Amino acid sequence: MLDRPEPATAAALARLYDLDLQDDPGDLDLYLALADRADGSVLELAAGTGRLALPLALAGHQVTAVDMDPAMVARGRTRAEEAGVPPDRLAFVEADLLGLQLPDAGRFAFAFIALNSIMLLASRDAQRGAFRTLAAHLAPGGLAAVDAWLPDADDLARFDGRIMLEWPLTDPDTGAVVTKAGSAQHDAATNTVNLSAIYEEGRQGEPARRWVRHDRLRLVSADELAAFAEDAGLRVEIMAGGYDLSPIGPGSERAVLIAERP
Ligand SMILES: C[S@@+](CC[C@H](N)C(=O)[O-])C[C@H]1O[C@@H](n2cnc3c(N)ncnc32)[C@H](O)[C@@H]1O
Repeated sequence: MLDRPEPATAAALARLYDLDLQDDPGDLDLYLALADRADGSVLELAAGTGRLALPLALAGHQVTAVDMDPAMVARGRTRAEEAGVPPDRLAFVEADLLGLQLPDAGRFAFAFIALNSIMLLASRDAQRGAFRTLAAHLAPGGLAAVDAWLPDADDLARFDGRIMLEWPLTDPDTGAVVTKAGSAQHDAATNTVNLSAIYEEGRQGEPARRWVRHDRLRLVSADELAAFAEDAGLRVEIMAGGYDLSPIGPGSERAVLIAERP
């Protein structure tokens, strides 16, 4: 997030983030399969509220989930407790992933950055740095995975700053109806997209409440992801175009990179 909101707003934005992700992105089976294959402890960077970290821990993996946003981490810890994740199975760590050096660095069997979070590292150097953090935490033979959205020309043409209604949803936490509107502005000079999300929560007869978040995403190509992985000393094993690991090609909407630390 570009601006650091005060704690009550940050907590609301963490709750609304989960509401936004009620539509399952469909990536969990891939991460479960990679964690099974790696057969050792798992590190998720930019883990948010634990959408993936919780089910990985519930499936029996030893998981460390890192995020720099205290409200996301707090919500992740609460969700883990409510879901009955054994406390020694999942550790949330509040930290910036850039330059991160956990005590267990060099010992993880699987480390990953899911669902476009690499794009929140909004410069080339930061994205390269994120791959260095992944590589530094893997044991020899360990696996890394990074997943990034590849917007096409039609997507970019829509990113002209206009505000569009994205959804109305009922928040299961509060029972209130929340409406999300968003705007995106593409800057070709920096290859970034400035995103604004406006959430409004309303109940009959009460004034609406509104929260706004701003993020900057740096677009990244599959080639660039592969180059970052190689720079970090990883060997690219698969560059896929989706979570089913189908080969990437013209029209692929995402790049899913799987690499190994030699
Ligand atoms: C898209 S959300 C999380 C997604 C989560 N991996 C999932 O798949 O549901 C991105 C997260 O990245 C975190 N983040 C962004 N930059 C970060 C950084 N430099 N270090 C750690 N976390 C970061 C944000 O706080 C946010 O929670």
